[in-house]
Amino acid sequence: MSIIERVQDRLGQVLDPELGASIVELGMVGDVSVSSTGDVTVVVALTTAACPLRSQIDRDVREAVSLIDGVRSVNITMGAMDAVQRDALMRRARQLAQDRAPTTSLPLGTPVLAITSGKGGVGKSSIAANLAVALARTGRSVGVLDADIWGFSLPRLLGVSGPVEASAGKMQPIEKKIGTGVLRVLSMGFLAEEEQALLWRGLIVQRAVQQFIEDADWSDVDYLVIDTPPGTGDIAMALARLLPQTGHLIVTTPALAAQRVAARAADFARRSNVRVLGVIENMSSFTCSCGEVHEIFGRGGGKELAEELHVPLLAEIPLREEVAHGGDAGEPAGLSDGPTGALFAEMATRIIDDIAPPLGAVGCSARLLDAVERAVRSAD
Ligand SMILES: Nc1ncnc2c1ncn2[C@@H]1O[C@H](COP(=O)(O)OP(=O)(O)OP(=O)(O)O)[C@@H](O)[C@H]1O
Ligand SMILES: [Mg+2]
Repeated sequence: MSIIERVQDRLGQVLDPELGASIVELGMVGDVSVSSTGDVTVVVALTTAACPLRSQIDRDVREAVSLIDGVRSVNITMGAMDAVQRDALMRRARQLAQDRAPTTSLPLGTPVLAITSGKGGVGKSSIAANLAVALARTGRSVGVLDADIWGFSLPRLLGVSGPVEASAGKMQPIEKKIGTGVLRVLSMGFLAEEEQALLWRGLIVQRAVQQFIEDADWSDVDYLVIDTPPGTGDIAMALARLLPQTGHLIVTTPALAAQRVAARAADFARRSNVRVLGVIENMSSFTCSCGEVHEIFGRGGGKELAEELHVPLLAEIPLREEVAHGGDAGEPAGLSDGPTGALFAEMATRIIDDIAPPLGAVGCSARLLDAVERAVRSAD
């Protein structure tokens, strides 16, 4: 394949975050050129010039193209569609929505954040719990899916317990109010004591995750945060298939070894068309009561990984007693008004404002999507 073919191929994998369809299929990609020195120029037409998803689309395009062998630089020109182009996009989006009727109750444009790493014990579940809480504290409804089927830990970390009930044939996630927001949680932990567990035991893990996604009521969430088991290969594939809008937040410790493993996870994510939204460094340093800072697990791994992947480093979370204790007590430290609460609040704000804005809070394709969904429903 020539460089330009590879660029076009990669662009075809970049999704409009709200419409959940490829920007190429949606007709948002204009001229693409590659100079003899490997400088790529891509023209992207947004539905409106002031689209708040502009930076996310810019980042996704840059990330998709910049890692191709032979590409030296990526220059993206953002423009806006005219009325005729927008009409054409509507038609394509409508057709795509009909062709790929979602098998889940989660609206296509709802951001899905999968917390992943290639290595166990780096704090994925702790980050998932605290991030979910921090997002909910902004008054939102946050779905939390514990995709660590046999090693579940979210019921304990969040202080929630089952049993899960079904209504209209869908499992109802367990609710926990957080300020003006709410968590809606599903975990194998809510079923393990139940009769259903017998049925579940015989199923492969992907099938269990699929059921949690398809047979649960996620209709009313602004975000879905997914905690994953270590070594996420199968789960990542299942998520990419079932929830194409899934973006990965990769957790690493500052140690180089963990960072290398995380890089492998990221590489895998890439090859299986999974979007990486950012890196979170955990266990960054420890400050003892005497005020001295100890970098127990080294330093810089998160920053290095983020640079390697061309994605933002979203946070450096220090080793803090309250993170461990909060998890044990079912009261995540992200709920506190102290410095740890502030760190997670900052990460949540960054995600809401920039990394993965919620559906409806944004003003470009979201409105079109609404129209598309209405059109599809009225055609049924
Ligand atoms: N920032 C932190 N400060 C203190 N303790 C932490 C921090 N992050 C995680 N821990 C502790 O480290 C341990 C492992 O964390 P956690 O279970 O979240 O990791 P994990 O990546 O989900 O593990 P697994 O791969 O087994 O699912 C837990 O005891 C947790 O309380
Ligand atoms: Mg875990």
